[in-house]
Amino acid sequence: MRLSSRLPHGFTPNALTASLAALKAGGREILDLTVSNPTRCGFAYPEAEIRTALSAPTVLSYDPDPQGSRTAREAIARHHGHGLRAEDLLLTASTSEAYGLLFKLLADPGDDILVPSPSYPLFDWLARLEGLSARSVPSYFHERWHLDPGTLEAAVTPRTRAVVVVNPNNPTGHFLSKTEWSDLTAFCTERKLALLVDEVFSDYALEPPADRLDTALQDADPPCPVFVLSGLSKVAALPQLKLGWIAVRGPGAAEHMEGLAFLADQYLSVSAPVQAAAPRLLELAPAIRDQIRQRLRANLAALDAALSAHPHLSRLPVEGGWSVLLRRPAVDGDDACALRLLEHASVLAHPGSFFDLPGDGHLVLSLLGPESTFREGLARGLSLL
Ligand SMILES: Cc1ncc(COP(=O)(O)O)c(C=O)c1O
Repeated sequence: MRLSSRLPHGFTPNALTASLAALKAGGREILDLTVSNPTRCGFAYPEAEIRTALSAPTVLSYDPDPQGSRTAREAIARHHGHGLRAEDLLLTASTSEAYGLLFKLLADPGDDILVPSPSYPLFDWLARLEGLSARSVPSYFHERWHLDPGTLEAAVTPRTRAVVVVNPNNPTGHFLSKTEWSDLTAFCTERKLALLVDEVFSDYALEPPADRLDTALQDADPPCPVFVLSGLSKVAALPQLKLGWIAVRGPGAAEHMEGLAFLADQYLSVSAPVQAAAPRLLELAPAIRDQIRQRLRANLAALDAALSAHPHLSRLPVEGGWSVLLRRPAVDGDDACALRLLEHASVLAHPGSFFDLPGDGHLVLSLLGPESTFREGLARGLSLL
């Protein structure tokens, strides 16, 4: 039987993933400098409180609301501030699911969305699985990352329905500047496009420029439809609990929420326990985020110290987020370099190509992992670059 053409043609792992699996199967200890799962990084979670929050008596009753429980939405609105109200929010099981709902809301099969790149690699598949195509629009680096309005303009087609930006971006850490925000909303207004802003990393500013847009929610009355995405996976470092959300703003917000609620009603995918627990989990989250910010800073300082012994290597500024881009002489391709690091030093780093970084000369490291692993990985890996 023929399967949907939306699926990939094959499921063969890439060379790096295949080599990693083979080395691990052979018992090799790998220093993973790509770890992005916070539950594997040695943070001290308030375990008893999290368990208690998840076992409130209300978890035993089923009282579905397509937008998600009002109490949970009220707590999320308080977390964000900026005048956000419970009625502006719709809960989802993840930001990935939120993208799926938004693409169904805004576009028809054959339409496209614009995604400034480099960025989160999942967009391509999330769009394709809804019958859309994600058109990559290159950003450029000059002292910091910049969106390129001319390239964005040139990429629009009659079938473009939305622009998706990540603020701060993964993996570049780029926060939109306030000027970029007003240019972007003006562009979307003129072209009748929606603007999706993924802010899962917005609590993690590391080296933020003064003119940054902390959050798109600062704009209470944007001129185009704006959908801001976030969730517990980064806000509370609890990806396993599966709670994301969409905040809806701008012209047509009521109609957009009605459409989203209709779509969400077909799935009702958010579990009662996580909705019941959300207010308490958000109260516990700042202490977890503090630990993460401390870790990110410590690993960045360790990287700077290590780089001082390797003057041919450097890093880009980390305005925000959990990753850093390491710049190296492109004596070989980034894919080959990542494979070399893995096979000769047992260090796992991502090649820039995984995130659509143009050309060669970049590796992407996560700053989230335990400090001892990070330092040891640098000690073993940098001399090979
Ligand atoms: C930009 C971005 N959005 C969303 C997510 C994932 O969020 P969720 O677990 O809610 O799907 C990630 C995960 O790394 C991410 O980098």
